[in-house]
Amino acid sequence: MSNDFENRYSMTVSTEIKPIKTEPWMLDPSITYLNHGSFGARVVSVFDYQVALKRELEASPVDFLDRHRGRVEDARRVVASFLGANSAGFGFVDNATTGVGCVVNSIKFNQNDEILTTSLVYNGVRQLLRRVASDAGCSYREFPIDLPIHNAAEIVQLVSDAITNRTKLLVIDHVASAAAVVLPVHEIIQICRNKGVLVLVDGAHAPGMLDLNIENVGADWYVGNLHKWVCAPLGAGFVWASEEHHETTHPMTVSHPYEEGFVKEFDWQGTKDITPWLASAKAVEWGEEIGWQRIQEHNHALVTWMHRTLVETWNVEPLTPVDGSMIGNMATVRLPDKCPQEMEECLQFRDYIFEKNQIEVPFFELHGMGVVRLSAQLYTRQTNLENLIRAISDFLS
Ligand SMILES: Cc1ncc(COP(=O)(O)O)c(C=O)c1O
Repeated sequence: MSNDFENRYSMTVSTEIKPIKTEPWMLDPSITYLNHGSFGARVVSVFDYQVALKRELEASPVDFLDRHRGRVEDARRVVASFLGANSAGFGFVDNATTGVGCVVNSIKFNQNDEILTTSLVYNGVRQLLRRVASDAGCSYREFPIDLPIHNAAEIVQLVSDAITNRTKLLVIDHVASAAAVVLPVHEIIQICRNKGVLVLVDGAHAPGMLDLNIENVGADWYVGNLHKWVCAPLGAGFVWASEEHHETTHPMTVSHPYEEGFVKEFDWQGTKDITPWLASAKAVEWGEEIGWQRIQEHNHALVTWMHRTLVETWNVEPLTPVDGSMIGNMATVRLPDKCPQEMEECLQFRDYIFEKNQIEVPFFELHGMGVVRLSAQLYTRQTNLENLIRAISDFLS
């Protein structure tokens, strides 16, 4: 964990978190929405902006898509600058999965190579890595990160122990989705540099959630989503490559600008609706007006309070430190023993809680335990957690 991160979040957990006033969200207010993490959510002005762009596109498709390519460049600059990334190595894609696909398909693996990741890897990315390894005839390995996690140092040690002389690429999450833990990517990358291992950081959740400076992270590649915590329209992700990889990193869809340079290749990936990319710059500006640091601190304080409250209410072992030092805007909490513990039952439980209580929150199995993952965003209220506690208590009674 970087010192910056620790210093910023070593606040005490207050019991009252002052809401930040914002414009309305597109969400149905009758739903207790505690699952920002899955698909994000959008404020009305960003949604309307995208709709206006779509109208413009449909009114004059050739003019919009062909003659005004500079629009993508403008959006790319705004978003890259917000994320501390050089826009010359920054390309939009539809989502983080596509971003990971671009990177791993741009690397030449041979049979002695190994692709390494952790047992906390996002399942969709796991399948993608398995497929790439199988096509290349190289190996794919996950090393275990057991729960609970107590500190960043233990994870750094696990990475260091797991790398072998066959490891060509480490794929590491910045925020591991299911466990909702922020991994110490700076230290991990340092180890990989010393051992000559390439690093791809999967930052699907990090933009908008963490105070991110991609150049400082120092990976070989960094991919992320804008439709989660930047609250951009769905279909906005990106790939960033360090300078030494600009020439060899290509989009999944290779088209006219092949070998004309990184940004040209990414800016044209065949005919598509680019309005999510363009409107992602609007979402960045929306957050800037409120202050991204303010948003992040609010969400972190709120989810830390929710985490601690649930752990105390249910009397369960925390899976990450309750001081919030290893989480961003999400927290994963063990369910009481009498709640579902297996994946199939957990998924049914999610639907049951939604239908009965209009609470949207993910329940799933993680390392053999039933868990719930909480998200905090500006629309989240402390009373939302009370609704969840009441719903679980009704179920258990
Ligand atoms: C770590 C991680 N990687 C990749 C993804 C996939 O994101 P997308 O479905 O937008 O491609 C997610 C989604 O939650 C994730 O958490």
